[in-house]
Amino acid sequence: MILVTGGAGFIGSNFVLDWLAGSDEPVLNLDKLTYAGNLNNLVSLEGDARHVFVQGDICDGAAVLALLNEHRPRAILHFAAESHVDRSIHGPGEFINTNINGTFALLEAARSYWSALDADAKAAFRFLHVSTDEVYGSLGPHDAPFSETTAYAPNSPYSASKAASDHLVRAYHHTYGMPTLTTNCSNNYGPYHFPEKLIPLIIANALAGKALPIYGDGMQVRDWLFVSDHCAAIRKVLADGTPGEVYNVGGWNEMANLHVVHTLCDMLDRAAPKQGSYRDQIRYVTDRPGHDRRYAIDAGKLERELGWKPAETFESGIAKTVQWYLSNQAWVADVQSGAYQSWVQRNYANREEGK
Ligand code: NAD
Ligand code: TYD
Repeated sequence: MILVTGGAGFIGSNFVLDWLAGSDEPVLNLDKLTYAGNLNNLVSLEGDARHVFVQGDICDGAAVLALLNEHRPRAILHFAAESHVDRSIHGPGEFINTNINGTFALLEAARSYWSALDADAKAAFRFLHVSTDEVYGSLGPHDAPFSETTAYAPNSPYSASKAASDHLVRAYHHTYGMPTLTTNCSNNYGPYHFPEKLIPLIIANALAGKALPIYGDGMQVRDWLFVSDHCAAIRKVLADGTPGEVYNVGGWNEMANLHVVHTLCDMLDRAAPKQGSYRDQIRYVTDRPGHDRRYAIDAGKLERELGWKPAETFESGIAKTVQWYLSNQAWVADVQSGAYQSWVQRNYANREEGK
């Protein structure tokens, strides 16, 4: 079996669902169920013996080691993290705890388990660390996209904590010989995306008749990747990646935020028409402190060496995404109850309009 950490979050749950749709190899899913973890994402697996869910914290090294010794996975796929830049600005502590200390605890448990395996199992074992393009910092408009050799220059507490975790993973390969793999991916979007991130927030707010907040001038650029393409890339790297290597994953879809928001408004104008256009709900608000201007990924290594490239274009992926949110408004309503409201208050109440 494989161990997935953070398998109740956005990308992790998509990964678990896609994995079990294509394989009968069981998944041990370790997730703390923070605000971002949601077992409703996995409801289709209820009663499926191939999915074993354990609520637990990656920071608890003894508990993780006990799980490893009990279930004896051949690989660990490490998704668990605090993942939202704005939350890292309001409260970096949890990012340091989970992303750095948690990854360290997980690596230590993995090292202990892996060291005791027999030679064949040891060579076949993999620790795949899921990371972000944000560790590379911010690009100017004409800079070449990030490659695997771009120097690290993280700018937010989130990206700094992910950068630290990447370095730890690298060190465990170089020092102990543990067969690690690291993937650095661009912005994902798709089903089960928590509506604190741009795309699901815009869809949910648009449909609720609320303001569509654009930070700053909205000309910040991100590369967007449909989540199932990311999951396919991870499966590919797990199967064929070279231990110790890093692989950048991207969608070849660089786009300014304003363009993304306009696209969503135009799609909703067609799919869920209302009086006027959803574009009328756009509001420019105070920018994010330290806001990275541009991310862009060169995913050429993954294509050249392992033959992966994204199956979806932005147009096809975003159409599926909008359709999913229109068909799953109960899922959105459920995650928006409770603590979500205090987050919205905390992040948006003090942002002045027109800034
Ligand atoms: P998410 O915030 O949606 O989910 C994170 C999951 O981890 C949740 O289920 C949460 O309960 C769990 N978790 C948090 N702390 C934990 C702990 N201490 N122990 C166990 N579980 C814990 O995040 P996501 O968007 O699915 O991102 C998954 C991974 O991919 C992260 O490592 C993130 O840095 C990386 N990544 C995300 C994106 C993106 O666009 N979302 C892009 C590139 C890389
Ligand atoms: P986000 O989805 O938080 O991802 P990240 O910060 O990891 O790239 O944000 C994507 C972009 O959208 C980023 O440039 C910030 C911007 N943004 C807004 O303009 N308004 C919002 O309300 C949010 C949440 C993000």
